[in-house]
Amino acid sequence: TGLTALDYGFVNTASTQSAITYIDGDNGVLRYRGYAIEDVAANASFLEVAWLLIYGELPTPSELDAFDSRVRRHTLLHEDLKRFFDSLPHQAHPMSVLSSAVSALSTYYGDSLNPHDPEQVEISTIRLLAKLPVIAAYAHKKSVGQAFLYPDNSLSFVDNFLRLNFGTMAEPYEINPVLSQALERLLILHEDHEQNASTSTVRLVGSTQANLFASISAGINALSGPLHGGANESVLSMLGRIRDSGESVERFVERVKNKEDGVKLMGFGHRVYKSYDPRAKLVKESADAVLADLGMSDPLLDIARELEQIALADDYFIERKLYPNVDFYTGVIYKAMGFPTRMFTVLFAIGRLPGWIAHWREMNDDPRTKIGRPQQLYTGSAARDWPQR
Ligand code: CMC
Repeated sequence: TGLTALDYGFVNTASTQSAITYIDGDNGVLRYRGYAIEDVAANASFLEVAWLLIYGELPTPSELDAFDSRVRRHTLLHEDLKRFFDSLPHQAHPMSVLSSAVSALSTYYGDSLNPHDPEQVEISTIRLLAKLPVIAAYAHKKSVGQAFLYPDNSLSFVDNFLRLNFGTMAEPYEINPVLSQALERLLILHEDHEQNASTSTVRLVGSTQANLFASISAGINALSGPLHGGANESVLSMLGRIRDSGESVERFVERVKNKEDGVKLMGFGHRVYKSYDPRAKLVKESADAVLADLGMSDPLLDIARELEQIALADDYFIERKLYPNVDFYTGVIYKAMGFPTRMFTVLFAIGRLPGWIAHWREMNDDPRTKIGRPQQLYTGSAARDWPQR
Protein backbone atom coordinates (compact mmCIF):
# COMPACT_ATOMS: atom_id res chain seq x y z
CA THR A 1 0.00 0.00 0.00
CA GLY A 2 3.06 2.24 0.26
CA LEU A 3 2.14 2.87 3.89
CA THR A 4 5.24 3.23 6.06
CA ALA A 5 4.24 5.18 9.15
CA LEU A 6 3.52 3.07 12.17
CA ASP A 7 2.52 4.95 15.28
CA TYR A 8 1.50 2.86 18.27
CA GLY A 9 -0.61 4.94 20.61
CA PHE A 10 -0.78 7.89 18.15
CA VAL A 11 2.32 9.43 19.70
CA ASN A 12 3.20 11.37 16.52
CA THR A 13 0.06 11.57 14.45
CA ALA A 14 -2.55 14.32 14.61
CA SER A 15 -6.02 13.07 13.76
CA THR A 16 -7.67 16.46 13.49
CA GLN A 17 -7.36 20.22 13.73
CA SER A 18 -9.13 21.71 16.74
CA ALA A 19 -9.74 25.19 18.11
CA ILE A 20 -11.00 24.18 21.55
CA THR A 21 -8.09 23.49 23.90
CA TYR A 22 -4.39 24.30 23.77
CA ILE A 23 -1.77 22.36 25.71
CA ASP A 24 1.96 23.06 25.89
CA GLY A 25 3.14 19.95 27.69
CA ASP A 26 6.74 21.07 28.09
CA ASN A 27 5.77 24.21 29.94
CA GLY A 28 2.67 23.00 31.77
CA VAL A 29 0.27 25.30 29.91
CA LEU A 30 -3.43 24.53 29.45
CA ARG A 31 -5.92 26.93 27.87
CA TYR A 32 -9.63 26.58 27.11
CA ARG A 33 -10.44 28.63 23.99
CA GLY A 34 -7.36 30.75 24.73
CA TYR A 35 -8.10 31.36 28.43
CA ALA A 36 -5.53 30.09 30.97
CA ILE A 37 -6.88 27.24 33.09
CA GLU A 38 -5.84 29.14 36.23
CA ASP A 39 -8.08 32.10 35.27
CA VAL A 40 -10.93 29.87 34.19
CA ALA A 41 -10.85 27.86 37.43
CA ALA A 42 -10.72 31.00 39.58
CA ASN A 43 -13.53 32.89 37.87
CA ALA A 44 -16.04 30.77 36.01
CA SER A 45 -18.87 28.37 36.81
CA PHE A 46 -19.05 24.86 35.36
CA LEU A 47 -21.86 25.73 32.96
CA GLU A 48 -20.13 28.93 31.87
CA VAL A 49 -17.08 26.89 30.90
CA ALA A 50 -19.32 24.34 29.17
CA TRP A 51 -20.73 27.18 27.05
CA LEU A 52 -17.24 28.50 26.34
CA LEU A 53 -16.02 25.09 25.18
CA ILE A 54 -19.09 24.26 23.11
CA TYR A 55 -19.81 27.65 21.52
CA GLY A 56 -16.31 29.15 21.47
CA GLU A 57 -16.89 32.41 23.42
CA LEU A 58 -17.76 33.31 26.99
CA PRO A 59 -21.55 33.66 27.36
CA THR A 60 -23.12 37.03 28.10
CA PRO A 61 -24.96 37.07 31.47
CA SER A 62 -28.32 36.61 29.72
CA GLU A 63 -27.00 33.78 27.52
CA LEU A 64 -25.65 32.04 30.60
CA ASP A 65 -28.90 32.55 32.44
CA ALA A 66 -30.94 31.06 29.61
CA PHE A 67 -28.51 28.13 29.26
CA ASP A 68 -28.59 27.45 33.00
CA SER A 69 -32.43 27.50 33.09
CA ARG A 70 -32.63 25.22 30.08
CA VAL A 71 -30.30 22.69 31.69
CA ARG A 72 -32.30 22.87 34.97
CA ARG A 73 -35.53 22.16 33.12
CA HIS A 74 -34.19 18.89 31.69
CA THR A 75 -32.92 17.17 34.82
CA LEU A 76 -35.82 14.72 35.22
CA LEU A 77 -35.24 11.15 34.06
CA HIS A 78 -38.06 9.22 32.47
CA GLU A 79 -39.62 7.03 35.19
CA ASP A 80 -39.00 3.93 33.04
CA LEU A 81 -35.32 4.79 32.82
CA LYS A 82 -35.23 4.99 36.61
CA ARG A 83 -36.48 1.41 36.71
CA PHE A 84 -33.61 0.42 34.38
CA PHE A 85 -31.32 0.79 37.41
CA ASP A 86 -33.29 -1.95 39.19
CA SER A 87 -32.23 -4.48 36.60
CA LEU A 88 -28.54 -4.02 37.40
CA PRO A 89 -26.77 -5.68 40.34
CA HIS A 90 -26.20 -3.31 43.27
CA GLN A 91 -22.47 -4.09 43.27
CA ALA A 92 -22.24 -2.91 39.63
CA HIS A 93 -19.44 -0.44 39.04
CA PRO A 94 -21.01 3.05 38.74
CA MET A 95 -19.02 3.71 35.53
CA SER A 96 -20.69 0.71 33.86
CA VAL A 97 -24.06 1.91 35.13
CA LEU A 98 -23.32 5.40 33.78
CA SER A 99 -22.32 4.32 30.27
CA SER A 100 -25.24 1.88 30.03
CA ALA A 101 -27.78 4.48 31.11
CA VAL A 102 -26.36 7.09 28.72
CA SER A 103 -26.57 4.57 25.91
CA ALA A 104 -30.17 3.89 27.00
CA LEU A 105 -30.98 7.63 26.71
CA SER A 106 -30.95 7.28 22.93
CA THR A 107 -33.88 4.85 23.25
CA TYR A 108 -35.96 7.63 24.86
CA TYR A 109 -35.01 10.41 22.48
CA GLY A 110 -35.26 8.73 19.10
CA ASP A 111 -36.66 12.00 17.75
CA SER A 112 -33.39 13.87 18.30
CA LEU A 113 -30.62 11.58 17.14
CA ASN A 114 -29.80 13.16 13.78
CA PRO A 115 -26.23 14.50 13.99
CA HIS A 116 -26.87 16.85 11.08
CA ASP A 117 -29.87 18.66 12.54
CA PRO A 118 -28.59 21.58 14.67
CA GLU A 119 -31.78 21.72 16.78
CA GLN A 120 -31.60 18.02 17.56
CA VAL A 121 -27.92 18.31 18.46
CA GLU A 122 -28.77 21.26 20.70
CA ILE A 123 -31.50 19.48 22.64
CA SER A 124 -29.34 16.37 23.00
CA THR A 125 -26.56 18.59 24.37
CA ILE A 126 -28.90 20.07 26.99
CA ARG A 127 -30.36 16.70 27.90
CA LEU A 128 -26.94 15.19 28.44
CA LEU A 129 -25.67 18.09 30.54
CA ALA A 130 -28.83 17.96 32.67
CA LYS A 131 -29.23 14.21 33.01
CA LEU A 132 -25.68 12.87 33.35
CA PRO A 133 -25.30 14.17 36.95
CA VAL A 134 -28.69 12.69 37.85
CA ILE A 135 -27.77 9.31 36.36
CA ALA A 136 -24.43 9.49 38.18
CA ALA A 137 -26.11 10.24 41.51
CA TYR A 138 -28.57 7.37 40.99
CA ALA A 139 -25.65 5.02 40.23
CA HIS A 140 -24.24 6.10 43.60
CA LYS A 141 -27.57 5.72 45.44
CA LYS A 142 -28.04 2.31 43.87
CA SER A 143 -24.62 1.17 45.12
CA VAL A 144 -25.47 2.17 48.70
CA GLY A 145 -29.03 0.89 48.57
CA GLN A 146 -30.76 4.25 49.08
CA ALA A 147 -33.85 5.66 47.38
CA PHE A 148 -33.42 8.04 44.45
CA LEU A 149 -34.39 11.65 45.08
CA TYR A 150 -36.00 13.85 42.45
CA PRO A 151 -33.76 16.72 41.33
CA ASP A 152 -34.44 20.10 42.96
CA ASN A 153 -34.21 22.56 40.08
CA SER A 154 -34.10 25.57 42.39
CA LEU A 155 -30.51 24.53 43.17
CA SER A 156 -27.40 25.21 41.14
CA PHE A 157 -25.90 22.48 38.95
CA VAL A 158 -23.38 21.43 41.60
CA ASP A 159 -25.66 21.75 44.65
CA ASN A 160 -28.37 19.77 42.91
CA PHE A 161 -25.85 17.03 42.20
CA LEU A 162 -24.49 16.97 45.77
CA ARG A 163 -28.02 16.83 47.17
CA LEU A 164 -28.95 13.93 44.89
CA ASN A 165 -25.89 12.06 46.16
CA PHE A 166 -25.98 12.86 49.85
CA GLY A 167 -29.56 13.88 50.64
CA THR A 168 -32.01 11.22 51.80
CA MET A 169 -35.79 11.03 51.98
CA ALA A 170 -35.44 11.33 55.76
CA GLU A 171 -33.07 14.26 55.99
CA PRO A 172 -32.73 17.37 53.85
CA TYR A 173 -29.31 17.97 52.37
CA GLU A 174 -27.50 20.88 53.92
CA ILE A 175 -25.48 22.79 51.37
CA ASN A 176 -21.87 23.24 52.37
CA PRO A 177 -20.42 26.07 50.24
CA VAL A 178 -16.86 24.80 50.78
CA LEU A 179 -17.72 21.47 49.19
CA SER A 180 -19.82 23.04 46.44
CA GLN A 181 -17.04 25.41 45.41
CA ALA A 182 -14.40 22.70 45.57
CA LEU A 183 -16.44 20.32 43.43
CA GLU A 184 -17.26 23.04 40.89
CA ARG A 185 -13.55 23.82 40.58
CA LEU A 186 -12.62 20.17 40.14
CA LEU A 187 -15.28 19.69 37.47
CA ILE A 188 -13.99 22.77 35.62
CA LEU A 189 -10.44 21.43 35.70
CA HIS A 190 -11.67 18.26 33.99
CA GLU A 191 -13.84 19.91 31.34
CA ASP A 192 -11.56 19.43 28.38
CA HIS A 193 -8.13 18.10 27.52
CA GLU A 194 -8.02 17.99 23.71
CA GLN A 195 -7.46 14.62 22.01
CA ASN A 196 -7.14 12.31 25.04
CA ALA A 197 -8.29 8.69 24.65
CA SER A 198 -11.94 9.24 25.62
CA THR A 199 -12.35 12.39 23.51
CA SER A 200 -10.72 10.65 20.55
CA THR A 201 -13.15 7.77 21.13
CA VAL A 202 -16.11 10.17 21.10
CA ARG A 203 -14.80 11.63 17.84
CA LEU A 204 -14.12 8.23 16.26
CA VAL A 205 -17.56 6.88 17.13
CA GLY A 206 -19.15 10.19 16.06
CA SER A 207 -17.26 10.09 12.74
CA THR A 208 -19.46 7.15 11.75
CA GLN A 209 -22.44 9.54 12.21
CA ALA A 210 -23.53 7.64 15.31
CA ASN A 211 -25.68 9.79 17.57
CA LEU A 212 -24.42 11.97 20.43
CA PHE A 213 -25.64 9.62 23.21
CA ALA A 214 -23.94 6.61 21.60
CA SER A 215 -20.71 8.58 21.17
CA ILE A 216 -20.70 9.86 24.77
CA SER A 217 -21.46 6.41 26.13
CA ALA A 218 -18.39 5.12 24.25
CA GLY A 219 -16.34 8.00 25.69
CA ILE A 220 -17.40 7.04 29.23
CA ASN A 221 -16.22 3.50 28.63
CA ALA A 222 -12.88 4.73 27.29
CA LEU A 223 -12.50 6.95 30.34
CA SER A 224 -13.07 4.08 32.75
CA GLY A 225 -9.65 2.45 32.20
CA PRO A 226 -7.00 2.91 34.91
CA LEU A 227 -4.53 4.52 32.50
CA HIS A 228 -7.08 7.26 31.81
CA GLY A 229 -9.87 8.52 34.10
CA GLY A 230 -9.87 5.33 36.14
CA ALA A 231 -6.51 6.46 37.52
CA ASN A 232 -8.20 8.61 40.20
CA GLU A 233 -9.78 5.49 41.68
CA SER A 234 -6.51 3.54 41.34
CA VAL A 235 -4.57 6.29 43.14
CA LEU A 236 -6.75 6.03 46.20
CA SER A 237 -6.59 2.22 46.18
CA MET A 238 -2.79 2.48 45.89
CA LEU A 239 -2.55 4.93 48.80
CA GLY A 240 -4.82 2.68 50.88
CA ARG A 241 -2.72 -0.39 50.09
CA ILE A 242 0.48 1.40 51.10
CA ARG A 243 -1.13 2.48 54.39
CA ASP A 244 -2.57 -0.96 55.14
CA SER A 245 0.54 -2.95 54.21
CA GLY A 246 2.78 -0.90 56.47
CA GLU A 247 5.29 -0.80 53.57
CA SER A 248 7.40 2.35 53.59
CA VAL A 249 6.83 4.87 50.82
CA GLU A 250 10.51 4.51 49.83
CA ARG A 251 10.13 0.75 49.42
CA PHE A 252 6.97 1.20 47.32
CA VAL A 253 8.81 3.65 45.04
CA GLU A 254 11.66 1.12 44.70
CA ARG A 255 9.14 -1.48 43.54
CA VAL A 256 7.75 0.98 40.99
CA LYS A 257 11.25 1.71 39.66
CA ASN A 258 12.05 -2.01 39.40
CA LYS A 259 8.73 -2.49 37.60
CA GLU A 260 7.99 -5.32 40.05
CA ASP A 261 4.73 -7.00 38.98
CA GLY A 262 4.20 -4.08 36.59
CA VAL A 263 3.42 -1.79 39.54
CA LYS A 264 3.18 1.89 38.53
CA LEU A 265 2.91 5.06 40.51
CA MET A 266 -0.71 5.79 39.65
CA GLY A 267 -1.53 9.46 39.15
CA PHE A 268 1.96 10.09 37.78
CA GLY A 269 3.06 10.56 34.19
CA HIS A 270 1.29 11.91 31.18
CA ARG A 271 1.52 11.51 27.42
CA VAL A 272 1.58 15.25 26.85
CA TYR A 273 2.82 16.90 30.07
CA LYS A 274 6.55 16.57 30.50
CA SER A 275 6.42 19.04 33.39
CA TYR A 276 4.01 19.56 36.28
CA ASP A 277 0.40 19.16 35.11
CA PRO A 278 -1.12 22.62 35.73
CA ARG A 279 -4.37 20.99 36.82
CA ALA A 280 -2.54 18.89 39.42
CA LYS A 281 -1.07 22.08 40.90
CA LEU A 282 -4.56 23.55 41.34
CA VAL A 283 -6.00 20.29 42.67
CA LYS A 284 -3.21 20.01 45.22
CA GLU A 285 -4.00 23.52 46.51
CA SER A 286 -7.68 22.56 46.72
CA ALA A 287 -6.90 19.37 48.63
CA ASP A 288 -5.09 21.34 51.32
CA ALA A 289 -7.78 24.04 51.45
CA VAL A 290 -10.77 21.65 51.52
CA LEU A 291 -9.37 19.45 54.25
CA ALA A 292 -8.41 22.52 56.30
CA ASP A 293 -11.88 24.05 55.80
CA LEU A 294 -13.56 20.84 56.84
CA GLY A 295 -11.22 20.52 59.81
CA MET A 296 -10.20 17.09 58.54
CA SER A 297 -6.90 15.37 58.11
CA ASP A 298 -6.29 12.27 56.04
CA PRO A 299 -3.24 10.02 56.38
CA LEU A 300 -3.67 9.18 52.68
CA LEU A 301 -2.95 12.82 51.80
CA ASP A 302 0.25 12.59 53.85
CA ILE A 303 1.26 9.44 51.96
CA ALA A 304 0.49 11.16 48.64
CA ARG A 305 2.62 14.17 49.58
CA GLU A 306 5.48 11.91 50.64
CA LEU A 307 5.24 9.90 47.42
CA GLU A 308 5.38 13.07 45.37
CA GLN A 309 8.35 14.42 47.27
CA ILE A 310 10.34 11.20 46.90
CA ALA A 311 9.43 10.70 43.24
CA LEU A 312 10.25 14.26 42.18
CA ALA A 313 13.76 13.90 43.65
CA ASP A 314 14.42 10.51 42.09
CA ASP A 315 16.38 9.99 38.87
CA TYR A 316 13.92 7.40 37.53
CA PHE A 317 11.12 9.96 37.54
CA ILE A 318 13.33 12.92 36.59
CA GLU A 319 14.79 11.19 33.51
CA ARG A 320 11.34 10.12 32.33
CA LYS A 321 9.80 13.50 33.16
CA LEU A 322 7.12 11.95 35.33
CA TYR A 323 5.12 14.42 37.44
CA PRO A 324 1.81 14.18 39.29
CA ASN A 325 -1.12 14.42 36.90
CA VAL A 326 -4.68 15.65 37.54
CA ASP A 327 -5.69 12.33 39.09
CA PHE A 328 -3.06 12.29 41.83
CA TYR A 329 -4.79 14.47 44.42
CA THR A 330 -8.45 14.52 43.33
CA GLY A 331 -9.38 11.30 45.14
CA VAL A 332 -8.39 12.70 48.54
CA ILE A 333 -10.87 15.56 48.01
CA TYR A 334 -13.66 13.34 46.69
CA LYS A 335 -13.16 11.07 49.70
CA ALA A 336 -13.38 14.04 52.08
CA MET A 337 -16.66 14.98 50.38
CA GLY A 338 -18.02 11.53 51.18
CA PHE A 339 -17.90 9.91 47.73
CA PRO A 340 -17.02 6.20 47.66
CA THR A 341 -13.87 5.40 45.67
CA ARG A 342 -15.87 3.78 42.88
CA MET A 343 -17.59 7.10 42.16
CA PHE A 344 -14.37 9.01 41.47
CA THR A 345 -14.17 8.29 37.74
CA VAL A 346 -17.88 9.06 37.42
CA LEU A 347 -17.09 12.56 38.72
CA PHE A 348 -14.38 12.84 36.06
CA ALA A 349 -16.99 11.87 33.42
CA ILE A 350 -19.40 14.60 34.56
CA GLY A 351 -16.54 17.08 34.34
CA ARG A 352 -15.40 15.92 30.89
CA LEU A 353 -18.88 15.83 29.32
CA PRO A 354 -18.80 19.42 27.93
CA GLY A 355 -15.41 18.74 26.30
CA TRP A 356 -16.68 15.56 24.67
CA ILE A 357 -19.74 17.39 23.35
CA ALA A 358 -17.65 20.33 22.10
CA HIS A 359 -15.34 17.98 20.18
CA TRP A 360 -18.20 15.93 18.75
CA ARG A 361 -19.87 19.12 17.50
CA GLU A 362 -16.63 20.60 16.17
CA MET A 363 -16.03 17.38 14.25
CA ASN A 364 -19.55 17.30 12.83
CA ASP A 365 -19.35 20.97 11.82
CA ASP A 366 -16.07 20.43 9.96
CA PRO A 367 -16.68 19.60 6.29
CA ARG A 368 -13.28 17.86 6.14
CA THR A 369 -14.40 15.18 8.62
CA LYS A 370 -14.23 11.66 7.27
CA ILE A 371 -15.01 8.41 8.99
CA GLY A 372 -12.07 7.56 11.29
CA ARG A 373 -10.41 4.48 9.96
CA PRO A 374 -6.80 3.77 11.04
CA GLN A 375 -4.53 1.78 8.77
CA GLN A 376 -2.42 -1.20 9.80
CA LEU A 377 0.83 -2.77 8.71
CA TYR A 378 0.03 -6.39 8.09
CA THR A 379 2.46 -8.87 9.68
CA GLY A 380 0.57 -12.11 9.15
CA SER A 381 1.14 -14.97 6.80
CA ALA A 382 1.53 -14.44 3.04
CA ALA A 383 -1.16 -15.94 0.81
CA ARG A 384 -1.42 -19.70 1.40
CA ASP A 385 -3.06 -22.54 -0.48
CA TRP A 386 -6.04 -24.06 1.30
CA PRO A 387 -4.91 -27.55 2.47
CA GLN A 388 -6.21 -30.61 0.55
CA ARG A 389 -8.24 -32.69 3.05
N1 CMC B 1 4.90 4.97 37.15
C1 CMC B 1 6.10 4.42 36.80
N2 CMC B 1 6.65 4.52 35.59
C2 CMC B 1 5.99 5.19 34.66
C3 CMC B 1 4.74 5.80 34.93
C4 CMC B 1 4.21 5.66 36.22
N3 CMC B 1 3.03 6.20 36.52
N4 CMC B 1 4.30 6.40 33.80
C5 CMC B 1 5.23 6.19 32.86
N5 CMC B 1 6.26 5.47 33.39
C6 CMC B 1 7.49 5.06 32.69
C7 CMC B 1 7.23 3.96 31.70
O1 CMC B 1 7.33 2.68 32.32
C8 CMC B 1 8.29 4.21 30.67
O2 CMC B 1 9.52 3.75 31.21
P1 CMC B 1 10.59 2.96 30.28
O3 CMC B 1 11.05 3.98 29.28
O4 CMC B 1 11.63 2.50 31.23
O5 CMC B 1 9.81 1.85 29.65
C9 CMC B 1 8.38 5.74 30.62
O6 CMC B 1 7.94 6.16 31.92
C10 CMC B 1 7.51 6.38 29.54
O7 CMC B 1 6.16 5.98 29.79
P2 CMC B 1 5.12 5.53 28.70
O8 CMC B 1 4.31 4.41 29.25
O9 CMC B 1 5.82 5.32 27.38
O10 CMC B 1 4.24 6.85 28.60
P3 CMC B 1 2.84 7.01 27.90
O11 CMC B 1 2.80 8.37 27.37
O12 CMC B 1 2.60 5.89 26.92
O13 CMC B 1 1.79 6.82 29.09
C11 CMC B 1 0.42 7.26 30.96
C12 CMC B 1 1.19 7.85 29.76
C13 CMC B 1 -0.40 8.36 31.59
C14 CMC B 1 -0.53 6.17 30.45
C15 CMC B 1 1.44 6.68 31.95
O14 CMC B 1 2.28 7.70 32.44
C16 CMC B 1 0.77 5.95 33.10
O15 CMC B 1 0.44 4.77 32.98
N6 CMC B 1 0.52 6.65 34.28
C17 CMC B 1 -0.22 6.07 35.37
C18 CMC B 1 -1.71 6.12 35.10
C19 CMC B 1 -2.27 7.51 35.23
O16 CMC B 1 -2.01 8.21 36.20
N7 CMC B 1 -3.11 7.93 34.25
C20 CMC B 1 -3.79 9.22 34.26
C21 CMC B 1 -3.28 10.13 33.19
S1 CMC B 1 -3.81 11.84 33.39
C22 CMC B 1 -5.53 11.90 33.33
C23 CMC B 1 -6.16 11.17 32.21
O17 CMC B 1 -5.67 11.09 31.09
O18 CMC B 1 -7.24 10.64 32.43
